[in-house]
Amino acid sequence: MKRIFNTNTAQYVGKKVKVAGWINNRRTHGKILFIDLRDKTGILQIVFTEKDKKIYKLAQELRPEWVIGIVGKINKRPKGMINPNIETGKVELQPESLEIFSKAKTLPFSIDGPGYEISEEKRLKYRYLDLRRKRLGRNLEMRHKAIQFIRDFLTKQGFVEVETPMLTKSTPEGARDFLVPSRTSPGKFYALPQSPQQYKQLLMVAGLERYFQIARCIRDEDPRGDRQPEFTQLDLEMSFVDREDILQLTEDLYTAMVKKLFPEKKFTQKPFIRMTHAQAMKKYKSDRPDLRKNKKDPNELAFAFITDFPMFEWHEKDKRWGAAHHPFTQPQTIDIKEIKKHPEKILAYQYDFVLNGQEIGGGSIRTTDLDVLTAVFEVLGHTKQETKNQFRNYFEAFSYGVPPHGGIAPGIDRFLAIMLNEPNIREVIAFPKTGDNRGLMMDTPSKVSEEQLKELHIKIRKDKK
Ligand code: AMO
Repeated sequence: MKRIFNTNTAQYVGKKVKVAGWINNRRTHGKILFIDLRDKTGILQIVFTEKDKKIYKLAQELRPEWVIGIVGKINKRPKGMINPNIETGKVELQPESLEIFSKAKTLPFSIDGPGYEISEEKRLKYRYLDLRRKRLGRNLEMRHKAIQFIRDFLTKQGFVEVETPMLTKSTPEGARDFLVPSRTSPGKFYALPQSPQQYKQLLMVAGLERYFQIARCIRDEDPRGDRQPEFTQLDLEMSFVDREDILQLTEDLYTAMVKKLFPEKKFTQKPFIRMTHAQAMKKYKSDRPDLRKNKKDPNELAFAFITDFPMFEWHEKDKRWGAAHHPFTQPQTIDIKEIKKHPEKILAYQYDFVLNGQEIGGGSIRTTDLDVLTAVFEVLGHTKQETKNQFRNYFEAFSYGVPPHGGIAPGIDRFLAIMLNEPNIREVIAFPKTGDNRGLMMDTPSKVSEEQLKELHIKIRKDKK
């Protein structure tokens, strides 16, 4: 017999079915034993009576979170026993056979409520139990639906999803790289991608014209509520477009997705609010202003595009210029002398996508003029030769016919945390890391054997404290 989901049982009144799942709770009422069986779809009430002595006896042993399978008849519940709060509230199952798949120890915490009050150390250590919680199960399901929606929407618009390498070379996105030592090239390292930035631009040289990827990005930065060392972007790039095309596509996608998946949400303004970086700084003293009319309303969404960012920002700590977005962004002037002489005055074709005061995406039109790109790197402190060496492949690729192109990369985690009214992005990620980048469940990072280190040509230096 094929097992069916709990919430489908209501269609089987009077019929025999097979169900399976976890014991959510047990109650006794005189001589009747009630079990709430939980599966991924919901709860089903199982009623054990003394009528069938053998099963009744076995059922006495059952405890919360044991995993069982049951075959039995679906009956209508007696009047007065109906539970309007659950989908299967009008039916119950009368067991004919009971199989215990596995027993369970008492869980380290309750999985009944939303669980915000439980220490996060505990929740992350036992994340597989934490995920049994309804709230987190729903978050994962909504995440899947959002990604599915994005894939369908962009596919219809002629985009192709392409996977780009995880073992790659450092890209200047502004964070530290995670490095992977090479066994076959002693002393050399791969970098894990901070984003697929260079690959997606090379795909434009390859003639793809419309690329996207649900891309894992890895950055060694200190995590906070809205930052994880690994996170996910909807990364996209288009050829033969201007800024307007990219912003319009982003607006259309997010509008359609919110309407379909989060119909309870209301837009503060449609079309999305637009303002320049200078306007935002002047009026709100922030490049990601929270433009909601009523900040207490969890269902209000103030999407905005902030445009015309400065190309460079001054890093006072190390007394040098950095790229406000990344160096591949096109400055609004092609006057190389001016770029080098007055970096503080140069604006860029860069835009940020903002929602309720959070930066949920960033992108730009890219520089395809290699002299401009070299000048930008010069401002950033790299000689012409260094730039050529580091981006040799990029320079070569661009010399074979490069289309004008640009793109954007909205962060999936931040968007979902806002949509699901979660206080931080860890709540919408299946297996997030702690504030100091540890994975408590798998105990990462961890030591490796001497042999492994030897193969990788690595010696751990024991610095004296
Ligand atoms: P950027 O670095 O601005 O752009 O990143 C784009 C978006 O990714 C999200 N994000 C993060 N989310 C969670 N944890 C993090 N550590 C984290 N870092 C960034 C943010 C951010 O707006 N290659 C360019 C995009 C482009 O130019 O097309 C890029 O990565 O929501």
